[in-house]
Amino acid sequence: MGIKILWYISSPDGPIPWERAQSWQNDPAQLVAQAQNIDRLGFYGALLATDQHESLSLTGLLVAYTQRMKFLTAQHPGLITPAKLAQMALTVDRFSNGRLLFNVVNGNDVGLKSMGMPIPHDERYAYSHEFWDAFQQLYAGSNDGYAGKYIQIAPRALVPLRSPLPPTQTPTMPLWGAGTSEPGVEHSAKLLDWYLSFADTPPRLGEKFRKVGARAAAHGRQLRFGTRLQIIVRDTEEQAWAHAQWILDQTSHETAVRLAGRQLGPKGLDQEIESDDPLVHKRIEALRAGRLPAVRDLEVYPNVWVGPSPFGFDILHPWAGTWIVGSTEQVAERLKEFHAHGTEAFILSGWPLVPEAQRIARTLLPLLDLDHGFEVPAFDEGDPEHARLAATLPPHEAPTHG
Ligand SMILES: Cc1cc2nc3c(=O)[nH]c(=O)nc-3n(C[C@H](O)[C@H](O)[C@H](O)COP(=O)(O)O)c2cc1C
Repeated sequence: MGIKILWYISSPDGPIPWERAQSWQNDPAQLVAQAQNIDRLGFYGALLATDQHESLSLTGLLVAYTQRMKFLTAQHPGLITPAKLAQMALTVDRFSNGRLLFNVVNGNDVGLKSMGMPIPHDERYAYSHEFWDAFQQLYAGSNDGYAGKYIQIAPRALVPLRSPLPPTQTPTMPLWGAGTSEPGVEHSAKLLDWYLSFADTPPRLGEKFRKVGARAAAHGRQLRFGTRLQIIVRDTEEQAWAHAQWILDQTSHETAVRLAGRQLGPKGLDQEIESDDPLVHKRIEALRAGRLPAVRDLEVYPNVWVGPSPFGFDILHPWAGTWIVGSTEQVAERLKEFHAHGTEAFILSGWPLVPEAQRIARTLLPLLDLDHGFEVPAFDEGDPEHARLAATLPPHEAPTHG
C-alpha cells in the first residue's frame, strides 16, 4: 500500500510565521488559494487545526472551491452536541461529495475551559468516546437517540419530507485523531480508524505505532498511522541546510526561548535539564548564552530536524514542531523509511504554504508511491495557475538559496 501526502491550511502564514515581521494573516481569498493549490496539485488533502478560524466553518467555505482533496478538520469533543455536529458534517459532506474527515483531538484544559468545556483531560477522553460514538451513529442515520453517561439524546421524531440527510460516506465517516497519554491511547485504540502522532525518529515513531496498534488489536480493531512534519526540500542537501540556517538567522533569541518554553515549562532555561543526550545540553547552553543553537546540533536523526517552527521549538525531543530537511532524494528516502516503520500518511507543511506546496508537488511527489485514490497529475511547469495562486500572497522576502 502506498502513502498519503496531506498539506496544511492555516493562517498565519509566511516565510517565518512565528516572527511577526515575516508572517501575515490570510484573508478568505488567500485561504481559498491555499485550498485550490492543494487540490489541483494532487495532495490527498489538508489538515485544518482548531485555530483562529473555526475549522468546520472554514471547511464549509473551502469545499465549494475544490474538487477532490479531503479536509481533515480538527474538532474538540463537546463544544456543540454530537447531533448538531452530525447535521453539520452531513451538510458539508453533501456539498463536497464526502470529502470531510474529522481529526478527533482532546485539546488542553485551559483552552477548553475557556470554550465552556469543564471536564478535565483524562475524563474528557471518556466523554469524547461517547461523543464520537453518538456522532457516528447519528451520521450513519440512526434515529434511536443515545443513552450514555455523558451524552443523552432523545429518539428523533421524523417529519415527512424533512428527514435528515443520508450519509455520503458509508457506512460512516472514518475518524482520524491523536492522543499520547494513557487515556489518549486507549481512546484511540477503541475509536479511531487513523492514529496520528507528532513526529519522532522513524524507528521510535514505529515503536510507538506498534504499541498503539497492539492496544487496538486487543479491542479487535485495526488502526492505520500518520504523522505531522514541517518540511524543507531543496535540489541539493547544501541548499536545504542553507534554508534551515536561514530560518535560524531569522528567528530572534526572544522568540526561540518563547517557542522552546512549550517543552521547558514555566521554569524555562532556569532549571537543571535532565537528558543524557549531549546535543540537548549544547542547545540549552546556546540559548542560555543568548544565541540560537548551531543548525546541525538540531538534527536528531538523518534529515530529522528540531529547529523553530510555528508549533514550538522542540529542543528537548521531537514533537509538534519537528522538520524533515534534505535534498529531494534524501527526503523521499526518509519518508520511505518512516513508511517502512508503519507511517502511511504524512501531513506536511513548508512556509509559505502556497509556493512550498508547489515545490513539493514538482519535486517530491513524483518520487513517492502515492495512494490518493485518484491519478495524481504530473506537475505542469507552464501552467499559469501556479503563478496566479502564488500572487495572492503579500510581497515577502524570499531567501536566495534554492
Ligand atoms: C497531527 C496532530 C494534530 C493535532 N491537532 C490539534 C488541534 O488542531 N487542536 C488541538 O487542540 N490539539 C491538536 N493535537 C493535539 C492533541 O489534541 C493532543 O493534545 C495531543 O495529541 C496529546 O494528547 P495527550 O494529552 O493524550 O497525550 C494534534 C495532535 C496531532 C498528533
